[in-house]
Amino acid sequence: MKILFATQNKGKAEEVKALFADSPFEIISLYDLGNSIDVPETGATFQENAHIKAKTIYKIYNVPVIADDSGLAIEQLDGRPGVYSARYAGEKCTYDDNNIKVITELKDFPEPHRAKFISYAVFYDGKNEIEAIGELNGRIIKEPRGKNGFGYDPIFIPDGFDKTISELELDEKNKISHRAKSIAQMKEQLMKLHERK
Ligand code: IMP
Repeated sequence: MKILFATQNKGKAEEVKALFADSPFEIISLYDLGNSIDVPETGATFQENAHIKAKTIYKIYNVPVIADDSGLAIEQLDGRPGVYSARYAGEKCTYDDNNIKVITELKDFPEPHRAKFISYAVFYDGKNEIEAIGELNGRIIKEPRGKNGFGYDPIFIPDGFDKTISELELDEKNKISHRAKSIAQMKEQLMKLHERK
């Protein structure tokens, strides 16, 4: 079964393809299709936004869709950037701009800066709706390190590690990440659905 993964983020698309590599599902992403549909993320939660994305993209393409809404929640910042993770430093901001904003906001707080990544995934095929959630706990550091990954990866050290996610290889990130967890659950539920057909 072909599933359209509703993202234009190359980093996310690569992660999810790798996570589905050993399954009967073939993942194509909006990024692969060169699609630039901008789905307004008007929800107040990751859950709402993931549902909005999945249903909007399903209506356009009429094929099974997985959407993931994800982001970073920092304890000392009362859960920010949260659902605003992608555009925290402004509409057209870069990942570096967001990281600088977070580091600046944490300036006067004592370490450790506890934080977690959250991924909320939704599958929708016009009939079945599946939800899955994954989290990754860790801390924020004030000097970005590493070249891999995307987003807040260079300033996030997962619990049990001494490297930032950007210093890990993709296959290492894919063993522990919030998205790896939500997508693993999603895959399990999709397998059950697939077996029933
Ligand atoms: P989304 O595409 O609306 O889900 O936005 C996700 C945003 O959250 C991204 O643009 C990143 O800023 C951040 N984010 C989500 N997942 C990750 C991750 O695995 N690493 C680093 N940043 C992430």
